[in-house]
Amino acid sequence: MTEHILITGGAGFIGSNIAATLSQRPNTEVVVVDNFSSGDWRNLIHIDCEVRAADCDDAGVLEEIADGRYSAIYHEAAITDTTVMDQRLMVEVNTNAFANILKASSQSGTRVIYASSAGTYGNSAAPNSIGSGEEPENIYGFSKLAMDRIAARWYKKCSAPIIGLRYFNVYGCGEHHKNEKDGNKTASMILQMYDKAKAGEQLRLFKYGEQMRDFVYIRDIVGANIAALSASQSGVCNVGSGKARTFNDIVENLGIALDEKFDIEYFDNPFLFYQMHTEADLTETQFILNWQPEWSLEKGIADYIKLLENKHRGPQTCL
Ligand SMILES: NC(=O)c1ccc[n+]([C@@H]2O[C@H](COP(=O)([O-])OP(=O)(O)OC[C@H]3O[C@@H](n4cnc5c(N)ncnc54)[C@H](O)[C@@H]3O)[C@@H](O)[C@H]2O)c1
Repeated sequence: MTEHILITGGAGFIGSNIAATLSQRPNTEVVVVDNFSSGDWRNLIHIDCEVRAADCDDAGVLEEIADGRYSAIYHEAAITDTTVMDQRLMVEVNTNAFANILKASSQSGTRVIYASSAGTYGNSAAPNSIGSGEEPENIYGFSKLAMDRIAARWYKKCSAPIIGLRYFNVYGCGEHHKNEKDGNKTASMILQMYDKAKAGEQLRLFKYGEQMRDFVYIRDIVGANIAALSASQSGVCNVGSGKARTFNDIVENLGIALDEKFDIEYFDNPFLFYQMHTEADLTETQFILNWQPEWSLEKGIADYIKLLENKHRGPQTCL
């Protein structure tokens, strides 16, 4: 029998990579629902799935969820631009819509796997652990923390698990649309630096490139999402590499992958709020998902740059 899996935000970076992998599984029909507000139809070109342009909490979609059409829901749709300051809009799109999905899924007992974010930790000291230092510094991070709290209220009322994945800094194929916006570019630092290097531009970092982030490769993000299909209990877990690396490490590994030596220009960081150090504590992740990351920064950048050099832009199947 064919199972149907719903992916909201499936035209986006992460959703399309999950869709690419799931659509290759036997007896699986992937349904992508996206309002195309920030995603990119080009991510879906090579994916055999049903595509629908709609809001993720569109009445028809909620009805299907409540009726039990789907064996699982991946909820990736969100305002993902962390510089959006409209509080009401952010909470309506990210949090309210998610609450509507949970209400519908509780009626059918459908598993929900949703995207939370390391933005919930704000500038708290690393390593970042579930249940501590959850002090977001912007409305985006708050909207995600509010999702985690709403989910917790539904854990006992739902017969199927609800699993929140707090992604850290994700990079990989399928994120080009985030580098093509006018003004604010939200693609990973790896793609931003790669595009600059290819355009022959000077690579610039905030002084002195020692800021640390947990950069996680898209193949690991997909791996964690697939693992969540078999998880037997609800909860929130971090999804990162588990190791903080510096901005200088990014440029160094880019240089290795492109066989070039880059001189970096350092400049003053203009931001008042800036995450200086993030690192995922994966204790809860191993417990709930029985999963651990496989891609170091070295391996991930090497794989990504090889794909970029071969003109791959779209999502990759991880099977
Ligand atoms: N990329 C990262 O580093 C990262 C880190 C932490 C969390 N996340 C979370 O992961 C999820 C996916 O992020 P992404 O990087 O793929 O971003 P993305 O912007 O590429 O994808 C989001 C998708 O959701 C769609 N969308 C937005 N609002 C919608 C709505 N109301 N109804 C239907 N579709 C809607 C957009 O058109 C887009 O295709 C998001 O929830 C994001 O907050 C991402």
